[in-house]
Amino acid sequence: KTGRPVGDEPARPDGHIGRRSFDHWFGEKDRNGFIHRSWMRAQGFSDEVFDGRPVIGICNTWSELTPCNAHLRRLAESVKRGVWQAGGFPLEFPVMSLGETMLRPTAMLFRNLLSMDVEESLRGNPIDGAILLTGCDKTTPGSIMGAASVDLPTLVVTGGPMLNGKFRGCDIGSGTAVWRFTQDVNAGRMTQEDYAAAESGMSRSNGHCMTMGTASTMACMAEALGLQLTGSAAIPAVDSRRYAIAQQAGQRIVQMVEEDLKPSDILTRDAFANAVRANAAIGGSTNAVIHLLAIAGRVGVDLTLDDMDEWARGVPWLVDLQPSGKYLMEDFYYAGGLPAVMREILPLLKADAITVTGKTIGENVANSERTVDTDVIRAVGNPLGSGAGTAVLKGNLAPDGAVVKQSAASERLLQHRGKALVFSSIEEYDLAVDDMDLDVDEDTVLVLQNAGPRGYPGMPEVGNMTIPRKLAEQGVDDMVRISDARMSGTAYGTVVLHVAPEAAVGGPLALVRTGDWIELDVPARTLHLDVSEEELAKRRADWQPTTVPSDRGWARLYVDHVTQANQGCDLDFLVGRTGSAVARQSH
Ligand code: FES
Ligand code: MG
Repeated sequence: KTGRPVGDEPARPDGHIGRRSFDHWFGEKDRNGFIHRSWMRAQGFSDEVFDGRPVIGICNTWSELTPCNAHLRRLAESVKRGVWQAGGFPLEFPVMSLGETMLRPTAMLFRNLLSMDVEESLRGNPIDGAILLTGCDKTTPGSIMGAASVDLPTLVVTGGPMLNGKFRGCDIGSGTAVWRFTQDVNAGRMTQEDYAAAESGMSRSNGHCMTMGTASTMACMAEALGLQLTGSAAIPAVDSRRYAIAQQAGQRIVQMVEEDLKPSDILTRDAFANAVRANAAIGGSTNAVIHLLAIAGRVGVDLTLDDMDEWARGVPWLVDLQPSGKYLMEDFYYAGGLPAVMREILPLLKADAITVTGKTIGENVANSERTVDTDVIRAVGNPLGSGAGTAVLKGNLAPDGAVVKQSAASERLLQHRGKALVFSSIEEYDLAVDDMDLDVDEDTVLVLQNAGPRGYPGMPEVGNMTIPRKLAEQGVDDMVRISDARMSGTAYGTVVLHVAPEAAVGGPLALVRTGDWIELDVPARTLHLDVSEEELAKRRADWQPTTVPSDRGWARLYVDHVTQANQGCDLDFLVGRTGSAVARQSH
């Protein structure tokens, strides 16, 4: 049998759908079957695990270098209970983990690498269905992207947020407090001692950032897309119900294999519309825009920035969480979590979108709790704002688009004309930020170049540049900032991000010079560089690409193949899916 194709097969004449792990690994009677079973027996498994039951791969982004995911080994044990309970055979395996706070030059550089790890691990191994254990920012989209390209039944279990941070009797939020306190220290409003005390009070349990940062946002996106069990996203990491729902997920994935319910059934254009609208209602991270574009690319759903702007328009902003608002994820969970939000905006959703529960989003939400605390989750009739989601801007400064998170911006700056102060790298800005002679005032538009996907490389979260010390000391707390970078989902301010094409590939952002006038008009969705076409053409002719020091390894592959922000920053050759079949045997 050596060399025969294995993997997805048509239904057999007896009506039995060939299960890949049984038919191509554990059920084989020949030498290969001997090999596949014998080595697995080394772990002490008895005969029943080879009887054709669904094998569930538990794809774990656990790592002690990703503190947000440090508890996922324990969570995996709960998933396994559920899988055994439902008659499946669970096998946990590690994939690359991406810790937002540790990895240099930015975890985003490696999101696609994680996706490849997940994709190849799921495809190459005897796995019939997958649980993705994720948490920290990039681990959720990276894992989903990989699984979507394989298209085996897949269910996401996120690790849940940390408990609320505490400092001097107040709640403080992951990331958001860091940005604020750093500004306060710079402005002389906070002592170094208090700064140190806040550090230890902020992260006081397992879990990911407990603001509505990227991790919480992507957990909500996984649920809104229909990939995570209803009510999962907001449960704190240390709440016993997080472990109970992980066990349920283990049970459910076994049924999903029997039903052959796959990501391609769930990730429809309607599912993305639901996710984008949910993101507007929760005041979620701008990073969701890039990740949703990348996931859509894997499943072949046509999704553009314009779709996202259109879908987010008019969605009421309901969830009062930091960084845009006041509360934190623990409060959000106790207030009803994402199902309560989805219930509020149900008339705006595609209620018929199917989910991992086997039911529609509409049915899931109808069966879940209503809002318990209308201060944390507002009613549609009493929103924190309307149309406050991520807006997509276009203009001669961003021909392929840029984004701004309206709920995190200052009302007074949403329409603004100011003179550019340009920095060609974040390091150059870091050197200038404390300069008391810097030629800057509160109307200045700070422009940062070469922090895009290819320019950095990896598109780091540096777009929310710290307010220059000179202005911070005068009490200025927001300015218009424009870049091809991203910003942390925990950050805030009138920050225009993801400018495409980026400076490093010669986008117009590269041509901006200090003193140029820039016009931002968020209601009109425009971003205009007030420089004549003639002058821009002259500058374009003089422009030299900045060389990126990536001559080998992953960074080289990334720089050669990464797509721009408006396409999701996937690698061009990873777009689409291959399915779960593998053409050759290993022995
Ligand atoms: Fe991991 Fe924020 S650093 S979720
Ligand atoms: Mg982040």
